[in-house]
Amino acid sequence: MGRSQNPELERKILLKALSYLAGRDRAEGIYTSICRTVVEELPVDSCSIFLYDSKSNSLHHVASDARTAGALLETEDIRLKVNGDSRFSRCLRGDSRPVVLEEGDVDPLLNTSGFKRVILFPLTSRGETLGLMAYASLPGSPVPEEGDLGILGAIAAVAGAVALQSRLEDELERSEERYRVLMEGARDLVFVLDGGGRFLYVNPRCRDMLGYEAEEMLGRYFGEFVSGESWAQTVSALRRVVSSGERFLDYQWVIARKDGRPLTLDVRASVVVSGGEILRHQGIARDISQEKALHEELLRRDQELDETRSNEERMRGYLTVATLAQEEERARVARELHDGPVQYLVALRRQLDLLEKLGNRKEQVEVLKEIDSLVERAIQDLREFSRNLRPPILDDFGLSYAVEWLVEQVQKAGIDAKFTVEGEPRRLDRDIEVACFRITQEALANAMKHSKASTVEVSVAFREDVVEIRVADNGRGFSPPDSLTSLARAGQMGLVGMYERAELLGGSIRIDSEPARGTTVTARIPLRKSRS
Ligand SMILES: Nc1ncnc2c1ncn2[C@@H]1O[C@H](COP(=O)(O)OP(=O)(O)OP(=O)(O)O)[C@@H](O)[C@H]1O
Ligand SMILES: [Mg+2]
Repeated sequence: MGRSQNPELERKILLKALSYLAGRDRAEGIYTSICRTVVEELPVDSCSIFLYDSKSNSLHHVASDARTAGALLETEDIRLKVNGDSRFSRCLRGDSRPVVLEEGDVDPLLNTSGFKRVILFPLTSRGETLGLMAYASLPGSPVPEEGDLGILGAIAAVAGAVALQSRLEDELERSEERYRVLMEGARDLVFVLDGGGRFLYVNPRCRDMLGYEAEEMLGRYFGEFVSGESWAQTVSALRRVVSSGERFLDYQWVIARKDGRPLTLDVRASVVVSGGEILRHQGIARDISQEKALHEELLRRDQELDETRSNEERMRGYLTVATLAQEEERARVARELHDGPVQYLVALRRQLDLLEKLGNRKEQVEVLKEIDSLVERAIQDLREFSRNLRPPILDDFGLSYAVEWLVEQVQKAGIDAKFTVEGEPRRLDRDIEVACFRITQEALANAMKHSKASTVEVSVAFREDVVEIRVADNGRGFSPPDSLTSLARAGQMGLVGMYERAELLGGSIRIDSEPARGTTVTARIPLRKSRS
C-alpha cells in the first residue's frame, strides 16, 4: 500500500468518519455520509457500499454517492455465485487487500462498464467479511493512485466497523425482543434496576403481584417498596457481589403491595458491574408468600410438637423421680419395720415365753399362750409386709432369686407355680432389677386375684441385651384395655404401673389374653450393661 499523498486530507476524512461512528446516527446514515465524504474529498466519482448476507449468500446495496448523476454503481440485491469468476466474489472471499477492475474488465456479477477504474475493498471486522466498498472513477476523471489506497482502505475499515456495530445492534435488538416477549409473558416478576437502584423495567406481572402498573414503578427506588430489612439485605448482597466478582445473587424481598399487604418474594438476580460499580441489576422474583406461610405453619407445629414432647419428657422425668422415690421409701419403711417393731415384738415374745414358764395359774398360762401366738402372727405379718415392701433378697441376691421367692409365695397360696430361668442369671442395674421385680409381682398378684388359674408359669430370660420376663396363667383371661388412660381412669393402677415402669426404661409390656384362654404378660427391658 502506497504512502498517502495528502496526509492532511486523510486525517480530515478519517476524523469525519470516526465522528459518524461516535454519533448516534443509524448505520444507513453513516454509510451515506461516508460515501459523500469520499466523493467530495477524494479522486473518486462514485462510492458505493454493499453488505454481505451470509445466510442468503448475497450482496445488498446499502449506500452510494456520486459526483455526477448516473455515475452510480448501484444495483438491486445480487445473488453471489460463490464460485463465479467475479472480482466481487473474490474480494469478499479474499484477504483484506483491494481488488482493482480496469476499464474493459467484465465482471459477471456487476456491470462496471462505463468506468475507467473500480477499486473494491472488503469491509472486514474481526476477521469476518461483512460487505464491500466500491470506489469507481469515470473516464477522463482523475483516478485514485497507489498512494490513495491507504486512505481508501482506512475508510473501508471504518465502514466495516459500522457494519459490525450495526449487525451487533440488530442482533441485540432481536434478542432483546425475544427477551422482552419472554419477560412480558413470565409468571414471575421480572425487573431491571439501574445502577442507582431505580426501576428501569418491570414486567406486567407487577399488576397482579403487587397491584402496581409498571409505569407507577418505573424510575422509583426499589427501597421505597421493600421492607427496611429486605433493603439492607439486598444492599449488602450487592456489595458482596461487587467485591467478589460474582455476577449472580439470591435474596428475599418482603415487599408491600399497593394495598399494603406484604408479599415475600424469592429473588434471583444478576448484575452488570463495571469498574467496581453496578450498572444494572436485574432479577426474577417469585412470590413465595404461600410457601412461607406453609413453612411457618410447619415450624409452629414442629415447635408445638417439641413442646408436647418436652412436656412428656418432663412428665417422664417426674415419673422416674417419683418411682425411684417410692422405691426408696418402700425400702426405708421395710427396713424400719424389720429393725424396729419386728425386733421389739421378737423381744416381747421371748419375755412372754419366760412369763409362761414362770407362771403357775392355768388360766394365766392359757392367756399368755394366746398372746404369744398373736405376737407370733404379728411378727410374721410384719416380716412379710416388710419383705413385700422391698424384699431384701432382691437387693442382696438379684432378680432371679427374688422372682423365685415370689413364685414360692404363690405356691404357698396353693397354686401350682413353676419357675424357670433362661440364660446366665446375673446382676442387673438396680433400677432394672426393681422394675422387673415389681412387674412380676403385679402380674402374679393379678393372676392370683383375678384369674382363678390353677397353674402359673414364670420365666426370666437373661439375654445379651435384654431381660425378658413372662408370667403365664391358665385362668379365665380378660380383654386387655385399649389404652392406659382408660385403666387409669378406672383406678386400676396395677397394669398402668407395669407399663410405666417398662416404658421408663425403654422397654415394653405385652399382654396376651382372651377371655377363657388364660393370660400371658411379657415384659422386655433393654439392658444397658450388666453389673457383673
Ligand atoms: N391375669 C389376669 N387374669 C384375669 N384378669 C386380669 C388379669 N390381670 C388383670 N386382669 C384384669 O384387668 C384388670 C386391671 O388390672 P390392674 O392390675 O390394673 O387392676 P387391679 O388388679 O384390679 O387393681 P390394682 O392392681 O390397682 O390393685 C383387673 O381388674 C382384672 O379385671
Ligand atoms: Mg392388679
